[in-house]
Amino acid sequence: MKERTLSIIKPDGVLRNLIGEVIKRIEGRDMTIKALKMIRMTKDQARGFYAVHAGKPFFESVTDFMSSGPCVVMVLEGEDVIKRYRELMGATNYKDAAEGTIRREFAVDIEKNIVHGSDSPETAQFEISYFFNALELPK
Ligand code: TYD
Ligand code: MG
Repeated sequence: MKERTLSIIKPDGVLRNLIGEVIKRIEGRDMTIKALKMIRMTKDQARGFYAVHAGKPFFESVTDFMSSGPCVVMVLEGEDVIKRYRELMGATNYKDAAEGTIRREFAVDIEKNIVHGSDSPETAQFEISYFFNALELPK
């Protein structure tokens, strides 16, 4: 089924000049970039984005990190793209990530792990509408 997911190149990925590297991998995998922009979240906006993790031990730190610099946010579309993009990213902890994945190849820290991808259709809908309006993302 054709679906959409939210992808983020996190502040560490932008800082380390990995925007092109991540986009190249996306474009090589039969997924279409439907919308793309650079943003910078405030601490409160990062808290809202990661609200599902509120109260967890890493919440303060990860929201500090996500608001520490610019991110590139993208909407990807394709068959089964939610799962396929998460496979391209690799496991949350780069140490557990499969060979050849973005996190395995570039991450150096469980928190600073280069990329984000939605984990379900419901999450994708929330996350896409968190960053993109109807003008930026035609139906
Ligand atoms: P999570 O949604 O569990 O991972 P994913 O990004 O793979 O969907 O967690 C969100 C982010 O929070 C994760 O990318 C990195 C950070 N994080 C930590 O810093 N420590 C942790 O123990 C976990 C689980 C996540
Ligand atoms: Mg997640």
